[in-house]
Amino acid sequence: MERRRFLTLMGGGVILAAGSAAGAFAVTRTPTRALMPWTQTTFYDEPRRRALSFAILAPNPHNRQPWLVDLATPGEVLLLVDTARMLPHTDPQNRQITIGLGCFLELMVTAAAADGYRVDLELFPQGADAAGLDARPVARARFIEDATIVIDPLFEHVLARRSLKEPCDLGKPVATSLLASLAASIRHGSTPGHTNDPDVVSALRDLTHRALDIEIDTPRTYKESVDLFRLGKAEIEANPDGIDFGGPLFDTLVLTGQFTRTIALDKSSMVFAQGRDAVLANTDTAMAHFWLVTGSNTRQDQIAAGRDWVRVHLAATALGLGLQPLSQALQEFPEMAECYAQAHQKLASAGGTVQMLARLGYATPVGPSPRWPLDAKIIAEG
Ligand SMILES: Cc1cc2nc3c(=O)[nH]c(=O)nc-3n(C[C@H](O)[C@H](O)[C@H](O)COP(=O)(O)O)c2cc1C
Repeated sequence: MERRRFLTLMGGGVILAAGSAAGAFAVTRTPTRALMPWTQTTFYDEPRRRALSFAILAPNPHNRQPWLVDLATPGEVLLLVDTARMLPHTDPQNRQITIGLGCFLELMVTAAAADGYRVDLELFPQGADAAGLDARPVARARFIEDATIVIDPLFEHVLARRSLKEPCDLGKPVATSLLASLAASIRHGSTPGHTNDPDVVSALRDLTHRALDIEIDTPRTYKESVDLFRLGKAEIEANPDGIDFGGPLFDTLVLTGQFTRTIALDKSSMVFAQGRDAVLANTDTAMAHFWLVTGSNTRQDQIAAGRDWVRVHLAATALGLGLQPLSQALQEFPEMAECYAQAHQKLASAGGTVQMLARLGYATPVGPSPRWPLDAKIIAEG
């Protein structure tokens, strides 16, 4: 059943969708193939592939899924990054992409543990460059059978985790004790911060709102997102990544030519205006905020932050709390410098780098995001 409503997606993007394309049309519009990885985790016999089938469900910026795995050495996973899947305008140093790879590694390690394997990780075995990622491996992971390994209780929430894309219910506060239990899920050394204090939340709503405005108003950073829009079922199935606009309402708008990339880029269009309103409704309804800080900002720190971040997100999932990263104020492009400085003043006054910032609250549940199948990410078999 469809109601007349705004649909919000991405870190930005929305459409006023008129009415009802229900019934059979709705059923046929689900991008079934693009969502299959969420139901295929029991598909594989081999332990590395079983663990990787969970890892590919990791949260990652703009759903670029930049991971590649080399399985040529038995018992090992060599993780590489696809440098064609970076976000050069909003993530010029590949910091956020590296955090996403940290999320991937944490899910791989957690899934391997649930299967009776310890994973010894060697990060950046051939070194790394602070300016950008390159063809050198991100990690070498050795899988070792271990009867004593303990299953992490967060593992059971991997398949239910979603990045929230809907406004929060303003009538439902987030309890301080829940924020503390998210912080307690951290294992890899990042320092958590959180607030549900109405004054602080209000200041962070303002900051994240302004930062989103800047990203949208800076032509090259906004275009970076629009170029990654996947409009309607056919595009999502062909490229199950990026910022997906699926389902009967969007499909109707796409099929009738009312929603195209050109229209989304046109600042005088209704699509643009409503997209902006909808993403700002997300920043403006935050009921709590949560962030992670690292003392330095090495590639290792960024991987650790990603490992911690997905743990926080799984812990939020376990508690029924919606979570959406709001990364704009943390981005390193020049137009964002003032917001970046303010975010660091507010959230890391003792120094360090704010690696992640998210809003939290209770909201309408959202569906899973598309994924490339694991087989598309294996560059060498073994
Ligand atoms: C480092 C990082 C930064 C992110 N920044 C944002 C953001 O600014 N806005 C947003 O809506 N989602 C953000 N996300 C969430 C991704 O968009 C999301 O993980 C991806 O689209 C896949 O969806 P899923 O998490 O529901 O599987 C971020 C995720 C990561 C790991």
